[in-house]
Amino acid sequence: MQLSHHAKTSDPLGRYYTEPKIGALLVEAMGLPHPTTVLDLGSGDGSLVGEAAKIWTSARFITVDIDANAASSMLPNLRGSAFKHHTIDALDIGLAARLGLKWGEADAALCNPPYIRHKWKKQFAEILEDAGLSHVLPRLGDVPADLLFLAQNLRLLRTAGRLGLILPDSIVSGEKFTVFRKTLIQEHSVERVIELPRRIFRNTDAKAYIVIVAKYGKGSDHITVQRLEADGILSAPYLIPAASAVKRFDYSYLAKNVVSNETRKIGDETIFICRGSFSSSFRKSVGFPIFHTSDFSADDVFVPSSFNLPKECIADSCVVAEPGDILVARVGRNLSQKVCMVRKGRVVISDCLLLLRVNEGKRNNVFSFLRSSTGRLLLDASAHGVGAKFITTKSLLELPF
Ligand SMILES: C[S@@+](CC[C@H](N)C(=O)[O-])C[C@H]1O[C@@H](n2cnc3c(N)ncnc32)[C@H](O)[C@@H]1O
Repeated sequence: MQLSHHAKTSDPLGRYYTEPKIGALLVEAMGLPHPTTVLDLGSGDGSLVGEAAKIWTSARFITVDIDANAASSMLPNLRGSAFKHHTIDALDIGLAARLGLKWGEADAALCNPPYIRHKWKKQFAEILEDAGLSHVLPRLGDVPADLLFLAQNLRLLRTAGRLGLILPDSIVSGEKFTVFRKTLIQEHSVERVIELPRRIFRNTDAKAYIVIVAKYGKGSDHITVQRLEADGILSAPYLIPAASAVKRFDYSYLAKNVVSNETRKIGDETIFICRGSFSSSFRKSVGFPIFHTSDFSADDVFVPSSFNLPKECIADSCVVAEPGDILVARVGRNLSQKVCMVRKGRVVISDCLLLLRVNEGKRNNVFSFLRSSTGRLLLDASAHGVGAKFITTKSLLELPF
């Protein structure tokens, strides 16, 4: 592989490795429960697949790097048969066959592409064409390696497969890449963008972003944007109409220019919010039912009637949910799937749930929003913690709806 000039870095292969905590954030942000086949093109030291393997324990991981010394080549020896490594060019036109895959087969792809410009080859036009990206810059020869890697990943992913990428500022906010962003939004679905603090990669000042794309995704027409602050805390998420994000994807710009002060937040309509009063262990020792995270079922919109209690059974000190109250799981990996309403009676809840009492006129709007795909995406985005996720009352009240 010949290289012409390279943009932001001085390493000819763009070898700048992702810190584990950023890799973990990228994997979390993809919101995938159990992908089967996961790719990492330009795998370097393997930090992205290393984090993914902690969560996707039954997946097989296929890593590719052109650098024969890349540490990811050791993964099959160190971690066993779930890992397969290939020392080849990730921009090979026949890559799928070389990896033993069909085009459109992978469930997920992780990628921190090299920020370099490869010497143009005719086959790159075919890669871009195949991914529907051949028109995104006036001159094909100007397409940087990160877009070629993105296109190659899209070719390998199945429909609705997720791509978790790290992209530089130029692509996320530069005017030159407006047509590219528009195409990505219109042809696929950009689900989340997380702005990373400066100097996230050692030896480079480049600003970078986590971008999550679903191939031909037909999910939400909004993008969830956030910023990872320098102290390691994720900002509250903003929900941006996809059409408004074409201009730029970055939180810093969108927060100032697109999110209006009139955006309604759940907190603006909330009368009362609190945690339940019983711990999950205590719950087993009492003689009455206490609604807990394990009692949610995917089909139930309302709390099952077996949890309704007569008034006289309930001590004054208990937190009691009443008809119309919304219950939201506060902890757990799939907390965004656990939102329901009390229809009748009185329900005692565990301290793993939040009780949300909303003005009657807006109650159904807030409830439908929290159960929609966009609401679930936002709940996931505002949950903290890697592994055991949790949502705070403050972050729930901050959610726009
Ligand atoms: C920015 S680093 C990212 C490494 C790793 N994925 C991470 O996030 O830490 C880019 C990687 O792409 C590799 N690379 C550059 N050009 C490549 C190509 N044409 N085919 C495969 N790998 C390539 C480099 O060797 C380097 O390991």
